[in-house]
Amino acid sequence: MVMKIISAEFIKSATDPSHYTEDTLPEIAFAGRSNVGKSSLINTLLARKKLARTSNTPGRTQLINFFLVNDGLSFVDLPGYGYAKVPLVVKKSWGPMVEKYLKTRNNLHMVIVILDIRRDPTKDDLSLISWLYAYDVKPIFVLTKSDKLSKNKVAMRRRAIREILEVSDDALVTFSAKTREGREKIWNMIVDSITV
Ligand code: GTP
Ligand code: MG
Repeated sequence: MVMKIISAEFIKSATDPSHYTEDTLPEIAFAGRSNVGKSSLINTLLARKKLARTSNTPGRTQLINFFLVNDGLSFVDLPGYGYAKVPLVVKKSWGPMVEKYLKTRNNLHMVIVILDIRRDPTKDDLSLISWLYAYDVKPIFVLTKSDKLSKNKVAMRRRAIREILEVSDDALVTFSAKTREGREKIWNMIVDSITV
């Protein structure tokens, strides 16, 4: 079932826990490399074209952005990592900012890790994933930009990524912001994670 979106709004950006929203609603966070398609995924899930700002320029989202969905669910767009041209001060602040969020956020139910289906996970992806395991946060893996590959290639890439991540096949969702493939499956996983 795709969640019917009655309302979706941007609430605020934060770097520090003192500026986060209240931790009363179940929260789902989205993380991944710069330019991988995090903001596009959020917009697709929320059926809003421009709610989370997307851009051809990697490193667009450098803060932790909070969104309120249907007055009952919180979405968080985490800043992307791994983009070489981001200023050094920004790069250095990324790790502590995201790690602190993952470590302290009590209402965090699941982190959606977004990976480009065409590429092997990077070292940065793997360190993010190891933080999730370390802080006992449940990850699911969205393999995005599937519209760029044939069906055969999609199957090949799923297998390759699954072996690198050492996860079962049902932890992976093939997705495209262009065709919206995977939208319903991701919603099901979100709803499951907040209703247990
Ligand atoms: P940062 O905020 O900079 O870290 O990037 P992001 O991860 O939020 O990526 P964003 O959603 O801004 O998308 C980056 C680029 O990829 C944009 O040009 C999008 O249009 C494109 N893009 C995102 N998802 C898809 C997809 O599923 N298919 C295709 N073909 N392009 C996509
Ligand atoms: Mg973004």
